[in-house]
Amino acid sequence: MTDKLRVGIIGSGGIAEGAHAPGYKALPDDCELVACCDVRPERAKAFAERFDLAHWYTDYRELLTLPELDAVSICTPPFMHRDATVAALDAGLHVLCEKPMAMNVAEAQDMVAAAGRAGKVLTIGHQQRFSPAAQAVKRAVDAGELGNIYYAKTAALRNRGAPTWGVFHIKELNGGGPLIDIGVHALDVTMWLMGSPRPVAVFGATYMALAHRPGLQNRMGTINIEEYDVEDLAAALVRFDNGATLMLETSWLLQMTERGNAYTQLFGTEGSARLDPFQIVRDVDGVPEDVTPELPPPAPDPPKQPAPSAPAAEDASAGAEAVPAEEAVTWRRQPSVERFVQAALGRAEPLVKPEETLNVQRVMNALYQSAETGQLVEITD
Ligand SMILES: NC(=O)c1ccc[n+]([C@@H]2O[C@H](COP(=O)([O-])OP(=O)(O)OC[C@H]3O[C@@H](n4cnc5c(N)ncnc54)[C@H](O)[C@@H]3O)[C@@H](O)[C@H]2O)c1
Repeated sequence: MTDKLRVGIIGSGGIAEGAHAPGYKALPDDCELVACCDVRPERAKAFAERFDLAHWYTDYRELLTLPELDAVSICTPPFMHRDATVAALDAGLHVLCEKPMAMNVAEAQDMVAAAGRAGKVLTIGHQQRFSPAAQAVKRAVDAGELGNIYYAKTAALRNRGAPTWGVFHIKELNGGGPLIDIGVHALDVTMWLMGSPRPVAVFGATYMALAHRPGLQNRMGTINIEEYDVEDLAAALVRFDNGATLMLETSWLLQMTERGNAYTQLFGTEGSARLDPFQIVRDVDGVPEDVTPELPPPAPDPPKQPAPSAPAAEDASAGAEAVPAEEAVTWRRQPSVERFVQAALGRAEPLVKPEETLNVQRVMNALYQSAETGQLVEITD
């Protein structure tokens, strides 16, 4: 491998176009986006044109045979995550797979095993860990400033926000509803901030209370009620091996006037911390005091580059200034993509470890099982 990572993207839909491709394009010194794939040929072709890619495919197995490839992003719906990830790792490639990691624990375990066999990076697209607030809370937790964290609560709630594109609403293809889509981020960031304790038991409930209601106004388009068979809301109490507990609530559809509500709050013996809004509290002489630090400013956007469809600037070596304004684009930095590239180039540890997201998968599967049986589910695998 050269010092530039050559990357392909499998699945050329919303997240590939909105985050992964721009994230790679924002790192021209470290990586080159060379190929994409989508089962829909018109999508793959348009994506290749938009991002100026040399190759596009409709079968991901063909993309994996491209000799110059070092890494792939997997941006398909969840039912494809395991097969594409294992095939890519077995082909000797590093993998950034979108969340949720997989459809179930067994699939996630296959992915962890494949990464171990291949000795390649496998990481999952949980970008919330990279927010300045999450990073600051993690530093405070790791420095022991909050003491022993024994309780946390997290939520990802929308009042009328069920996605209506793709297969988000079909259990067999997506694995579930808001828990899989947005609750998974809340769980991931909270469990990571708690120090990644091992989940041992879950008591949960799910409801499909509103999606089939005639006349329901959904902000993200009209719900296909014939196909929609996932939950509208999931809630759980999770217990960990260190005795800590976590309350989770997540929903796409709720009878509340706020458009959304997302929070994560950790409580320790010496203090507490919160994301959205960011706050750190410490016990000072027996009184809880607000000791929230300033957050660092966001990283500046990278220099402008020629738009893919524009002719190359005459003197590329002159850098950003050489790109005529009307033919220049700014690709926004994506910290999770950036960290993946650094990890694949051997310059950093991945921030999101697959063993950690396997534990998130364990919690989600136990929650669904608990909701089905009405019983507490112990996690033993
Ligand atoms: N990290 C985040 O915040 C975030 C945000 C949105 C979506 N996602 C995740 O990203 C994934 C994709 O979501 P999306 O919104 O881009 O969905 P999407 O429906 O817009 O795109 C998925 C694409 O995959 C293609 N596809 C399906 N099967 C395929 C196959 N066998 N081979 C190649 N391509 C195939 C589809 O044709 C489609 O173009 C999901 O797992 C989703 O949960 C993550």
